[in-house]
Amino acid sequence: MSTSLMNQQFRLAARPVGMPKPGDWSCTTTPVRELADGEVLIKVLYLSLDPAMRGWMNDGKSYIRPVAIDEVMRAGGAGVVVESKSSKFAAGDMVCGGTGVQQYWQGAADDKTAGFYKVDTSRAPLPKYLNALGMPGMTAYFGLLEVGMPKAGETVVVSGAAGAVGQTVGQVAKHKGCRVVGIAGGKDKCDFVVNELGFDACIDYKGGSVKDGLKEHCPKGVDIYFDNVGGEILDAVLTRINLKARIIICGAISQYNNTTPVKGPANYLSLLVNRARMEGIVVFDYADRYSVGVAEMAKWMQAGTFKTREDIVQGLENFPETLLMLFEGKNFGKLILQVAEV
Ligand SMILES: NC(=O)c1ccc[n+]([C@@H]2O[C@H](COP(=O)([O-])OP(=O)(O)OC[C@H]3O[C@@H](n4cnc5c(N)ncnc54)[C@H](OP(=O)(O)O)[C@@H]3O)[C@@H](O)[C@H]2O)c1
Repeated sequence: MSTSLMNQQFRLAARPVGMPKPGDWSCTTTPVRELADGEVLIKVLYLSLDPAMRGWMNDGKSYIRPVAIDEVMRAGGAGVVVESKSSKFAAGDMVCGGTGVQQYWQGAADDKTAGFYKVDTSRAPLPKYLNALGMPGMTAYFGLLEVGMPKAGETVVVSGAAGAVGQTVGQVAKHKGCRVVGIAGGKDKCDFVVNELGFDACIDYKGGSVKDGLKEHCPKGVDIYFDNVGGEILDAVLTRINLKARIIICGAISQYNNTTPVKGPANYLSLLVNRARMEGIVVFDYADRYSVGVAEMAKWMQAGTFKTREDIVQGLENFPETLLMLFEGKNFGKLILQVAEV
């Protein structure tokens, strides 16, 4: 059955300088081949578009190897098993894993790099498994709880507050009894995190001074800063941290398309004065405990005390320009590309 199918794929054609351009991609179509024993064929339904994809396009040492030139672009995704020659999955199973930017994934069911696992769509719709119940949610949950170590009554500030990671950081912190202040671009995003997600306040960094906002909304200072953006916002928060503050370096999206060196924090001596610490996290380090985070957040979702927002764009052909939405602040919630219907 698989032999009549064609697979459209986006491959990395060139390493971008600055913001990725259309010419940095090539679009190829290859036939789906017959499955060998132990293999599965997965139809990709949704792709997770993540800021990290920009880093994977660069050459150089990181926590994961760069995507090679002409390789199918790496991406997390969710799909349905359409054919299986493995006892691990059956046709009809809903799965998540490293699908890549393409219509179909085929290979060994137990491929460690792709890491496919079954998800229960009776518990939550499939896109939620790319958001709070997937990689961004696990980043937020374990980054905040394990590195941030929040205590009830503490003040938590999170940037990229209306995005995939930020939404979850703020709501987990609220569930742990903290005061939560978001930082996001624009009134609509700020209103959303306060009115829909229950944050205590949100600073619109595009509409005014972050320092003034922190003074107003963090009268007792900042105990935890979950940093998704780096750059000037990190510097502003460093001026307001408390004794023994914890700063979680999750990402620095403001720096990912720089053509000049990354801008480090000028105010880092605030760490010395406040005996504070800054620590980086990589979500994959918590992989063996994802089920703990999924169970707790799914419970909150079912109780109606935890919400998520996804921004779903249609069509694999729109991949190149949709990815750019992340770096222009055009996504409102977890950015997902829908590739096909079930
Ligand atoms: N360490 C890990 O394991 C790990 C795992 C997942 C994600 N991350 C990191 O977490 C961060 C958030 O990822 P996400 O998936 O949740 O993305 P996201 O927040 O859903 O989307 C990106 C958002 O970043 C904001 N942004 C873009 N350019 C900016 C700039 N120059 N200054 C300030 N804000 C800017 C925009 O929001 P506004 O409209 O509010 O500006 C944009 O909507 C990223 O840095 C990502 O690399 C790290």
